[in-house]
Amino acid sequence: MPAIVIVGAQWGDEGKGKATDQLGESVDYCVRYQGGNNAGHTIVVDGEKYALHLLPSGILTPGCIPVIGNGVVIDAGVLLDEMKALADRGVDTSRLLISANAHLISSYHSTIDKVSERFLGKNKIGTTGRGIGPAYADKISRLGIRVGDLFDEKILRQKLEGALDQKNHLLVKVYNRRAIGVDDILIEFKGYAEALRPYVCDTSRVVNAALDAGQTVVFEGAQATLLDVDHGTYPFVTSSSATAGGACTGSGIPPNRIDRVVAVLKAYTTRVGEGPFPTEQHDAVGERLRETGGEFGTTTGRPRRCGWFDAVIGRYAARVNGVTDFVLTKLDVLTGLERVPVCVAYDVDGVRHDEMPMTQTDFHHATPVYEQLPGWSEDIRGARELADLPANARAYVRTLEDMVGRRISVVGVGPGRDESVVLHDLL
Ligand code: IMP
Repeated sequence: MPAIVIVGAQWGDEGKGKATDQLGESVDYCVRYQGGNNAGHTIVVDGEKYALHLLPSGILTPGCIPVIGNGVVIDAGVLLDEMKALADRGVDTSRLLISANAHLISSYHSTIDKVSERFLGKNKIGTTGRGIGPAYADKISRLGIRVGDLFDEKILRQKLEGALDQKNHLLVKVYNRRAIGVDDILIEFKGYAEALRPYVCDTSRVVNAALDAGQTVVFEGAQATLLDVDHGTYPFVTSSSATAGGACTGSGIPPNRIDRVVAVLKAYTTRVGEGPFPTEQHDAVGERLRETGGEFGTTTGRPRRCGWFDAVIGRYAARVNGVTDFVLTKLDVLTGLERVPVCVAYDVDGVRHDEMPMTQTDFHHATPVYEQLPGWSEDIRGARELADLPANARAYVRTLEDMVGRRISVVGVGPGRDESVVLHDLL
């Protein structure tokens, strides 16, 4: 009875939400293990579009228990708004479980996120401005406030005083901003305590018990491999462990419980924010991918940078995540191209690299070595089996599979829940 981790293989926005959602009714628990409301999952169910930021995708599947694990950072105001918005559309949110050990994002985190980006000037990261980095920084500095702290007012005040003392020095003396009062945050947090109380529990215990009972648990990564704080394109990354290993620390389950790692890979590549991106297309080609693929951020609305498929990244994702299956998404976006370039290696200052270069300096200097694959013009959105795809689209899938070295089990041919070609069941 599987524990499955679902991760993004590139820089995020690969369509992980759809992959998780597609496992559907067979999933008993869907656990978010890192990130916060910097994430954005767009899921289309029965023609209805849902944009989720903090809630696990499982919230849309009746019978599935959505869990926010200890590795997530929670902006409680955003979470409650998201729950209300779903409830207003008739979605039952009462099953949600929230880890008492998850850290809280407060207004001072988003303030610091925004002003520190401004101070970085041309070296900015291009964050979502949601306070993610500063909240994780507080966690590691042992200055964070956890969900469980909301229920002990004395401790909450004490911790807030400690955190704000430092923050206010920074805000006032370095960033020239107003100091934040402990009481203001306390009032805000007290409201959250009442609203969140029914959902908070020891989620590690619950999830381990579910696995003991033979239930199926999906661990849903947000962001992606190259945004991982250790394995991504540092410093142009998010501040958490988005790779498969993060599923363990971020939810309190041991590594030997994981049965499968599914990585979601877009049939081309996109990135939001700053940082190196070897196959990026700055011209009309990039524009075409962006328009056809609807490549605008779910969270910030920012246009995504777009480029060709990069097999070096695919191989890297396979290795650092221990990928067992790839889900290739948005193949339909490539329909109508005469030739589809695919990056098979990098040229770094005259030296060929078939694997990810060791240093970020080399990655910044990487120029793609392309192979040109023949395109297809037939509409593929109706395809449900491999045989339904035109020969060149089939060849594209099989060639990518060879290049990344792991099987491609599902191919997305449209945004809808059922618009996929399934080659191997994920469960
Ligand atoms: P942060 O996570 O807001 O600190 O932003 C750090 C980097 O990660 C920026 O380049 C963001 O654009 C990027 N990022 C964060 N969340 C996502 C996501 O869900 N999809 C794609 N990029 C993301």
